[in-house]
Order: sequence, then C-alpha cells, then structure tokens
Amino acid sequence: MKSFYITTPIYYVNDKPHIGHAYTTILADVLARFHRLLGVPTHFLTGTDEHGQKVQNAAAKHGITPIEHCDQTVVHFQRLWERLGITNDDFIRTTQQRHITVVQKALQDLYDKGLIYKTSYKGWYCVGDERFFTEKDLKNGRCPECGRMVEEIEESSYNFRMGNYQEQLIKYIEDHPKFIQPDHFRNETLGFLRKGKLEDLCISRPKRRLSWGIELPFDKDYVTYVWFDALVNYISAVGYLSDDETFKKWWPVNYHLIGKDILTTHSVYWPTMLMGMGVELPQTIFAHGWWLTNDEKMSKSLGNVINPMDMIDKYGVDAFRYYLIAAMSLGQDANFTEKLFNTRYNAELANDLGNLVSRALTMLDRFNGGFVPEVTIDEDEASATLRKLCKEAVDTTPVNIDNMKLDTALATIMNAVREANKYWTDQQPWVLAKEGKKEELALVIRNSLECLRLVSGLLYPVMPTKMTEIRRALGIAEEAIAPDYARLQNWFGLKVGAKTTVPPPLFVKVKYEEPPTESLPPPAKKAKKEVAPVEMPPCTIEDVGKVQLKTAEVIAAEPVPETTKLLKLQLKLGDEQRQIVSGIAQWYKPEELIGKTIVVIANLKPATLRGVESNGMLLAAKAGNTLRLVTIDGDLPSGATIG
Ligand code: MSP
Repeated sequence: MKSFYITTPIYYVNDKPHIGHAYTTILADVLARFHRLLGVPTHFLTGTDEHGQKVQNAAAKHGITPIEHCDQTVVHFQRLWERLGITNDDFIRTTQQRHITVVQKALQDLYDKGLIYKTSYKGWYCVGDERFFTEKDLKNGRCPECGRMVEEIEESSYNFRMGNYQEQLIKYIEDHPKFIQPDHFRNETLGFLRKGKLEDLCISRPKRRLSWGIELPFDKDYVTYVWFDALVNYISAVGYLSDDETFKKWWPVNYHLIGKDILTTHSVYWPTMLMGMGVELPQTIFAHGWWLTNDEKMSKSLGNVINPMDMIDKYGVDAFRYYLIAAMSLGQDANFTEKLFNTRYNAELANDLGNLVSRALTMLDRFNGGFVPEVTIDEDEASATLRKLCKEAVDTTPVNIDNMKLDTALATIMNAVREANKYWTDQQPWVLAKEGKKEELALVIRNSLECLRLVSGLLYPVMPTKMTEIRRALGIAEEAIAPDYARLQNWFGLKVGAKTTVPPPLFVKVKYEEPPTESLPPPAKKAKKEVAPVEMPPCTIEDVGKVQLKTAEVIAAEPVPETTKLLKLQLKLGDEQRQIVSGIAQWYKPEELIGKTIVVIANLKPATLRGVESNGMLLAAKAGNTLRLVTIDGDLPSGATIG
C-alpha cells in the first residue's frame, strides 16, 4: 500500500458530540494509527458540516449569527477529539474558504457540462417543517408531520443529473466488490439502484428560505443543498482543484467510514457526483452499525444518549477506546451499556493485561533489580506455545485489520495475554526463585516480557497512552516507543540489561453500581423480551395450517409519526394492496424497503398500532441486535402463497 487516506463523516455542529460520533472517529483513528505503525504514509481527515437550515435556526434561536454559532459549537468536537487522543491530520470545516472555493468550482464545472439544469417544482410546503410534500402525502389537506396548514408553492430549482449515472453506477458496484462494504450494505445499495428509475437530485435551496449555505456560482439567489456541499469535503481537503500533487498523493481515498444512517448519500449521491466531475471513485465506502442502548437507537428524545465524557472520566480514554473497538463487529449494531463495558474492563484490562504487567515486572525487580535478563537455556514446550500464540497475534493482526475485523484482531491479541498469564501460573516463577533456578526463572520472565512487548505494540493504535506506559516500563528506548511492525516480528526484541520499572496499576478495577431503578427500563418490557422461542410448546401441522403466509412487495414506506420504532408499509399482494405497521424502524430506513419482496402473515386479524391500522404482519429474523427481513430466494410475484 503506497498511501492510506481515511475519512470520517463531517459532523453537524448543531448537536453535541455523543458516543456515535466518538465511535466513528476512534475507529478511523485506530486504522490511521495502525497504518502508520505499518510504515504507510497516512492522512486522516475529520471535520464539521456547518451549513443548512438547522444551524441557521439554532443561531437565530440564540440571537447570534450562524458562523458565531458554528465557532462556538465546533470546539465541542475539537476538544473531545483531543481528549480521545485522535490523531487527525486535518480538520475541515465547510465554512472555510478552501472548501467553499472548491464546491463553487465543482458546481460551475457541472453546470458548464450541462449536468446541472434549472427546473421548476410544484408542491405543498409546510413552513413549520420547512419541507415539501406531494398531494398524496398530505393528511386531510394538512402537513402529515405537524398537522399545520400547507401552502402550494411553485418554485424553480437546480437539479443535478444523477439519473444519468444509474447504469454506470450499478456496473461499477458489480465490478468492484470492495467499493461498498460490508456486503449487506453493498446489496442494499444495488437493490435501491435496481428497483426503479434513479431520479435527478435537487442541489439548490432558494436564499429567501435558507441563506446559510454556499452560493451557487451561476445564480446568486440560491445556496447549495447541504449534502452536495458536505460530500465535497473529502476532496476539497486534499487539494482537489487547488493542489494537484497533494490530490494525487491521497485520492482515491482508501476508506470513507460512515454510519449506516448515511449510506445512500455516500453510495449513490457521492459516486454520481464524482462521475459527473470526472474524478475517480473512492476505494471503499465502509458503513458501520449503530450503538444502541437496550436495543434502541440512541436519541435525544428518548434520553438514552451516552456521553463519552462520563465514560472517560470513570474508566479513562484508553479503556473507552478499547471497549468500543472490541465490542462492535463492524457492520452490525451493538448495545452499549456500562455494565457490559465494566465487565470487560475488569476482566480483560484490569485482570488479564494489568496483572501480567505488574506480576512480570515486580518479579524482575526482585530477582534481577529490574534489568532485562538474558536467556541462556533452550526453550521448553510451554514457552514455545506462548511464543506461537504471540506470533499468531502479530501475523494475523494486519490481516484482520485489512478485513475490517477489528474485534477479532483484539480477541487474538488478548488470547496471547491470557496464555501468558496461564504460562506464568503454570511455571510458578516464585517457586523457581525460591529454588534458585535462575536460568529457568530468567526464561519465564523474559518470555512474559516479550509477550508484553508485542502485545503493547499491537494494541498501541487502540490504547496509545497505556501502551506507551507499558513500553516505557519494559525499558524500551524512547525512539522505539511508538512501535514499528517489523520489530514486532522478532521474539527476543528487548535489550538485555535494559532497566525496567514497575508502573503504578494501569487499569484500576471499577466497581459497577446499578443506576437508580427509575432510570431502568420498565419491567413489563423486559419480561416480554425474555420469552425465548425455544420455550414455545410444540405445534401441530393443523396449527401451522392456520397461518397464511404470502409474498408481498413493498411499494411505499414511511415512519409512523411520533414513534421511533414503527414504520407504515404499503404492500402489494398480487392484485390486493394493504397497509401494515411494523416495529422495524431501528433496522430499516423507509426508502431501503421499497421494492423488496418480503413475507407476511396475510390472515392476521387487523390491529391498530398507535392509531394506524395494520392488516398483517411481516416476518423478520433477529439475532442479538440485528434484525433482517425474511425475503424470497429468487424472483416470485407478490401474492404467492407460502407453505
Ligand atoms: N453531517 C452529516 C454527514 C456528512 S458527511 C459528508 C451527518 N452528521 S452527523 O453529525 O449526524 O453524524 C453522523 C455520523 O455519526 C454517523 O454516520 C455515524 O458515523 C455517527 N453516529 C451517529 N449516531 C450513531 C450511533 N448511535 N451509533 C454509531 N454511530 C452513529 O450525518
């Protein structure tokens, strides 16, 4: 790999950073640090998305200008990144002139090529929600979101010919399996692109409604749609149209890391924009899942948002970074609870790793004044096993990182640590010391220290501060404190005679206290979740015959207002059309469902959920926090019977 360029989404400044923002940024940091460790020139970009209606409104609410609002809030992100040890090489703000210039140049270029055109749009506008609705969206002639009166507005806007690139993009995704990762998000994008005509994208907002944006270079009455502006940050920050050499050095980006909530903008809007500009596409757009609390998406309205600062204050930055990386399988959702964090912290960091450091260095201090001993006898079988597991950790870590299996990488490394503790207990070095078996004792201590040298090197990208402490305590020279992968491949890498020290406890155990009961989820809900399907009584073929399953095509989907979990789906079952309500909003965005052929219980008695009628139930499979819809293997028309 000649270079490594990685980005995070640029975060909205109207919000304070929470665990979700911290996660993507830590993940990018770990990958950037790991590539630096491999000796690959690395560029890591993050930043903030500062234009748009929400910022304009928030500023107005506080009686300040939008840029004052941005200047005040951006520091929350910058301070948190500093606290979390984030080593970004650049921080882009979309209000910086370097970005604005590039967005305007890119827009002018697309306009000159005829890829942006003026058109007019007619729709029903809700002033409260600042959104357009179509006639059929309206509820009794009013806004479907807030119930206010709407007004019919016809206005001109500018569209980007996104639809031109539909076939080209499908082909590109098919030909480049790594372009959108993991595979289920690749399939989701392909499904979206194949299901119907890809529409053009409106890229303007009239200034009389929204002035806080980048002015269109060819019409001063409009500003740029915030996504069209924001996505360009990935190239404006690395010299696109301003510094060819820098741009050539870093582009195409290796990874755009994103959360799954912003997949379509990155996997459809962005590539088509780049195609229009004639710029090479990113190597990989990688979407991760959500951090949930008690299986629900974190949101301000639910009051379940985890503030990273609280966790850092209690457990320290490195432990927080470790847990986030260890506990999420990339691509899947994961639950964050302090209890789970606390358990792993105490077991893996305080016990396994912390103990190994303190027992090996304390023994060396007593036995040899803390000086790294020379090994003068042959390796025994137990030492060979330890060395083998350490080697496995060293060899597989780059492969796991390359495959974005960071949780597996950490598990393999921690496996070596556990083996070293077992080795220590089995070899009983305190007995060897008592019996005066100096050579054997030196071997046990040295092997344990070498294991710590490798492990601290491999874990350095995840826990840079604590691993630096370990490496200093091991007597590693200052210039080699930041590890280098080539050196991690040698077993006896410590310098004989180097002076080690016994550091203060690295990870002090934390006792977990249950929060006061009123903040626990209501017990009724808990009881419901604990019903395990395996405990169901056996059923007969007659029971099964009572359920009529059919295939159904999703033709429309939208959230049920004022709920976080429910979606209202319009389904086609052969000639029949019906509506069902389903609690899948955490896992599927409405637009992802359209065009899917799913399986429904067609003869379920109608029910009303949150005031909305539901005629049937869809089938979905759930494992842990992941839910996927049951679909059909191959093509079948809707309304087909299943049995
Ligand atoms: N400004 C846009 C992105 C523009 S990129 C050209 C935006 N910003 S955001 O502030 O809402 O941040 C979204 C990102 O934050 C997600 O894509 C994800 O990376 C992260 N997360 C926000 N909530 C999250 C969780 N609950 N869990 C994990 N990450 C999530 O969208």
